[in-house]
Amino acid sequence: MKNILVTGATGQIGTELIMKLRHIYGNDHIVASNIREHKENPIMQSGPFELMDVRDASRFFEVATKYNVDTIIHLAAFLSATAEKKPLLAWDLNMGGLINALEVAKELECQFFTPSSIGAFGPSTQKNKTPQDALQRPNTMYGINKVAGELLCDYYFTKYGVDTRGMRFPGLISYMALPGGGTTDYAVHIFYEALKTGKFTSYLRKDTFMDMMYMPDAINSIIKLMEANPDKLHHRNAYNVSAMSFSPEMIAAEIKKHIPTFKMSYKIDPVRQKIADSWPNSIDSTAAIQEWHFRAVYDLKTMTADMLKRIKL
Ligand code: SER
Repeated sequence: MKNILVTGATGQIGTELIMKLRHIYGNDHIVASNIREHKENPIMQSGPFELMDVRDASRFFEVATKYNVDTIIHLAAFLSATAEKKPLLAWDLNMGGLINALEVAKELECQFFTPSSIGAFGPSTQKNKTPQDALQRPNTMYGINKVAGELLCDYYFTKYGVDTRGMRFPGLISYMALPGGGTTDYAVHIFYEALKTGKFTSYLRKDTFMDMMYMPDAINSIIKLMEANPDKLHHRNAYNVSAMSFSPEMIAAEIKKHIPTFKMSYKIDPVRQKIADSWPNSIDSTAAIQEWHFRAVYDLKTMTADMLKRIKL
């Protein structure tokens, strides 16, 4: 990894990943790109930035060639709830962007990363400790995109030798850039509301379990996976990775330990509840641990304490 192009750069993962990559590999070697500029985002000032719609194949090639990139980290995509509201647009962006990114990686012989998700599983998947190789019949547009994306990564690896790598991320919790349009977003918004108003209304039922991970663990994992010995990687679609599994009532109880007056109420959003109910309660990361030594440091307790300390309102 010498010259890295990151798409969807101002999003929740991109913002923190780019700051870290620029710190490690040098500011000028990390090219950030996004469909829009976000002037206030710290990545806009600290190194190269290119406006790019990932659906525009020739622009993708132009940017990648201009910076002589050898690595593509493709993050631009709609999350689950937005994709459910706009399924055709989600297909267009999530699949159109991915196929362009893979084509550029193939032509320019780049190493490649794109995230999959717990959303790549569906209601018929084993719910607890979902194994690496499990039934994948998601019933959301986002899930369909993620399964097709995983298969495409396998295809480009076996057919063209593209060095594809990926992870099935759980809900990611962070304090630098907010997530948008996801089903797991509540686990971020709850902290801001707890600090601002002392209360939060959850759009998911109190007993809805999903896997989650704190962003520093997600960022370190991406870098670790990208630097891993290719010969050791037996899964080129995406690795299960998990750090913690909790429900809205559990995170509320953890926040109450710091803010005793915090009040949680519930107003269920049927669309996001249905999506959450179709996903695993917890997934099993054994393959990632064995093949590239995946490790998450933060659990619910340490993540909660850190979030409450670091959020700036
Ligand atoms: N965080 C994503 C979402 O909720 C899941 O990958 O859509």
